[in-house]
Amino acid sequence: MVRLRTIHRCTECGAGSPRWAGRCPGCGEWNTLIEEVEQVGGAAQTRSAAGGPPGRAATALLLTDVGADGTEQVSTGVSELDRVLGGGMVPGSVTLIGGEPGIGKSTLLLQAAAAMARNGARCLLISAEESPAQVRLRAERMDALVPGLWLIGESSMPAILAAVRDVHPDVVVVDSIQTVWDPELESPPGSVAQVKGCAHQLVTAAKAGGPAVVMVGHVTKEGALAGPRVLEHVVDTVLSFEGDRHHAIRLLRAVKHRFGPTGELGLFEMTGTGLQAVADPSGLFLADRRSGNSGSVVFPSMEGQRPLLVEIQALVVPTPMVSPRRSVSGFDSGRLSLLLAVLDRRVGLSLVSHEVYVSVAGGVKIGDPGADLAVCLALASAATRRPVDDDMVVLGEVGLGGEVRQVTQTSRRLAEAARLGFRRALVPARAPGHAELSVRHVESLFDALERDLGPASAPPKLRLVGGPATSTGNEAG
Ligand code: TYD
Ligand code: MG
Repeated sequence: MVRLRTIHRCTECGAGSPRWAGRCPGCGEWNTLIEEVEQVGGAAQTRSAAGGPPGRAATALLLTDVGADGTEQVSTGVSELDRVLGGGMVPGSVTLIGGEPGIGKSTLLLQAAAAMARNGARCLLISAEESPAQVRLRAERMDALVPGLWLIGESSMPAILAAVRDVHPDVVVVDSIQTVWDPELESPPGSVAQVKGCAHQLVTAAKAGGPAVVMVGHVTKEGALAGPRVLEHVVDTVLSFEGDRHHAIRLLRAVKHRFGPTGELGLFEMTGTGLQAVADPSGLFLADRRSGNSGSVVFPSMEGQRPLLVEIQALVVPTPMVSPRRSVSGFDSGRLSLLLAVLDRRVGLSLVSHEVYVSVAGGVKIGDPGADLAVCLALASAATRRPVDDDMVVLGEVGLGGEVRQVTQTSRRLAEAARLGFRRALVPARAPGHAELSVRHVESLFDALERDLGPASAPPKLRLVGGPATSTGNEAG
């Protein structure tokens, strides 16, 4: 007999708790527990990673005897998607693509499915949210009406699995996993148990020599839809599609990837006819930059294997508040606190009575410590209202002693700066130079700040005072 129980499940991590709590005991997120009814015992199945039927024991092999067949990547026909996946999609793999509603997930997957169908693959789109007529309309707009592209407007799991058996596709796109449901499961559509249950059936189908599966998952805390984070551990690849819905730039990155590195960034522009790859990302990110602004510094970042020049902006405003606001966009707030402390102690630039804002223009998120020096220079420039030279890029990690440390791939970063017409670079002491740039090497933050702020455009409210507060072996200052 089937027994039912009431449980409170976290929509973010899937942890269960018999009682409701304001904060999830699993992941610590607030207000994510919702009440659900679940089946106890019974249908739990074990799946062998080899893709064999549940319950059958696999034989152990020597690792050297294990073949790597079936893990070659097949191009999706969308270059930026291939870049993020490290070449393409692996047959039988399961991918989850997350992003806010309206960001362009359905558009991207329709484009990829059409491109793969054009290359001879059989692709099945399962549209559980939009009617087939709506999908057709979008396909017309994007020139995606190609043979080999199948569509079913269905949200019930048995019908979906039947369609997969009928069509024998190479690729299945499920849009979205939160709207498909299995009538066998007692929980209501959209609940965590339904999302997990349906995803599990799709994963099983894919691993049993079936198609590559791509699932769409909406990321939102509002509404009753379950967050796709509960699925992250059952899929091979998790992609995140980001960007500001009101701007055209879209960023695609891999959060988890079993078949390659996760550092690559895919860049798209949403146009009237679908998503287009961005041809010159650095040029695009710097296009709106105003010259002569204080608080603006260009940082040559590396996104995976691709150099990308971004503008880092800082704004510093005096305030009588006891704990003034620190706000970051595209940069780590903990890292900002650390840099503010280093600026205070090692350079004598104190911003304790100032609101501080740091933003990376264009919606890019920077995790590269090589941005430290650029952020410090932007802060000092904003505080003193002295602009940094327009034609200079700034690169270097800043240590707690105020020393400037080396970063990886300096040459490639500087080459990209030279290509875009920059003339000067501020880099760590032992970093390589570049033939087309006038490169200045600095040992310490103090050394960098002292000389590299241009003339004041307004009477500075703050001045850079004194030398390094404490001398460390690294400071040449
Ligand atoms: P969509 O792919 O439906 O987003 P998601 O599946 O992530 O919810 O696309 C959302 C937006 O993209 C929609 O507001 C309209 C816009 N769009 C274009 O600008 N150009 C296009 O060619 C298409 C298909 C959509
Ligand atoms: Mg959609």
